[in-house]
Formats: sequence, C-alpha cells, structure tokens
Amino acid sequence: MAKTPKIIIKTPEQIDGIRKSSRLAASVLKMIEPYVKPGVSTEELDQICNTYILNNGGISACIGYHGYPRYTCISSNDVICHGIPSKKEILKEGDIINVDITTIVDGYFGDTSRMFKVGKVSKSRENLIDMARTCLEIGLAQVYPGNRFGNIGYEIAKHAERHGYWVVREYTWHGVGVAFHEEPYVYHKAPKDSGDLMEPGMIFTIEPMINSGTHQTKLMSDKWTVKTRDGSDSAQFEHTILVTQSGYEILTVL
Ligand code: MF3
Ligand code: CO
Ligand code: CO
Repeated sequence: MAKTPKIIIKTPEQIDGIRKSSRLAASVLKMIEPYVKPGVSTEELDQICNTYILNNGGISACIGYHGYPRYTCISSNDVICHGIPSKKEILKEGDIINVDITTIVDGYFGDTSRMFKVGKVSKSRENLIDMARTCLEIGLAQVYPGNRFGNIGYEIAKHAERHGYWVVREYTWHGVGVAFHEEPYVYHKAPKDSGDLMEPGMIFTIEPMINSGTHQTKLMSDKWTVKTRDGSDSAQFEHTILVTQSGYEILTVL
C-alpha cells in the first residue's frame, strides 16, 4: 500500500527556528528595495541579497538546490517564476520583477517573495500586481484549523478568474520549514473542500502565480525559467505561514 504522505506538525522549538529564518528572508526583501532601479542587473541584486543573508547568519537555500545556479530567483515581466539572475539582464523603467528569497538559518527554512516596480509602470502592470497581492490575502483568509487545504486554491482561483486573470496550474504551494519543499503540495486552483485538514503547527507557503493573458506556461531551455506561453505578464507574492489555534501567523514579516 502507498505510504500516506506526512504533514509535519512543528514543535515550538522548530517554530521558533523557522520564524527566525523567515524574518531574515523578509528582511532581505526590505533591504533590496532601494537597489531595484533602472540600470541594475539582476545578478547584482542576487549578489547584494546573498551578502546580506551571509552577514545576518543565514545561507541561501536556492543555490545548489537541484542544481539551481544562483542565490535568489528574480522573475521579470513574462517570467512566472524561477528566473535566474544574470549579468545580461538589466532592469529598465516599466519592468516588474518578483524577487523570491529562501533562507536557511540553523537548519530552518523561510520562503517569501514580492513584486517590485522598476520606476513607473503601466496601469495594467499595477493592476496585475494588486491582483496577485489580493490573491495571497484571499488565500490567507482560508488558513485556520479544520479548514481543508484545497479551499486556499479554490478561493484564489475564483477571485482571479472573476476579474479576468489566470492562475498558473502547474506549480504548487508547499510545506516548508525543516526542508525547502515538504508535504503538502497543493495547487492554487483547487476543488472546493479538497485535501487534508489544517492543524495548528503546520507551516506552509501560499504563493499564487497570476497571469494577465492565459494560465499557460512554458519552460525555457535553461530548465528553470518558467514564462507565460503567450508572453503576457505574470506576478506573484509569497509568504511562509503557521497555522495557529485561532487562524494563522505570517512568519515572513519583520
Ligand atoms: N522559492 C521558490 C518557491 O517558492 C523555489 C525556488 S527553487 C530554486 O518554492 F531552486 F529555484 F531556488
Ligand atoms: Co515557495
Ligand atoms: Co519562494
């Protein structure tokens, strides 16, 4: 018989460790904000993030993860996720980028990402970013003991699609904390009342990828970069979240 995948209920000690790592990841996103300007390369941003992580007692979980070559993921415009920072990619006015930081501190993982605007961006890009942020908030509202995991994606997709946006279907949110990616793995578009029950002490991300054109994706030849198939824009926000007795606590905050 197949083994039932195990969702870890974290101990208070593990929660403290994951909170510390998550706070460091959140502080990287705050630190990097003034550097996100026209003319900077995504590799420079990657280096600045890595130096800051090291100076603050952590290491990047990304580098070497299944062979991933950089310290952060930076995904611009039509890149949905896992964009590889590069010397050749120079930010320009009007771009939108997601910076995704996963740290390890004392063996514990924290995972968070947010969008940045490079100078002034178009109204449609502003609206897409707002939609991605709202979708994360809608997911958060579904986190409480006794609710089912699928309701996070059910509510996110309902909201996004009602407003003419698309939810990426291939990439999940995930348990996190003692490893980078743990059970459960759940889509951001999911059937109502599907999946397991949430229990206090579970820790996972919510990280909906929202596209403006269609939900379809394409994997580039570097085997990491995921783009929208039609070249339309994509946006994402991510937090690491603890299920508490009464609801949730966002761990990736300062
Ligand atoms: N941080 C991403 C996530 O939210 C995963 C990046 S994997 C990497 O799950 F190898 F590309 F870093
Ligand atoms: Co994640
Ligand atoms: Co992430």
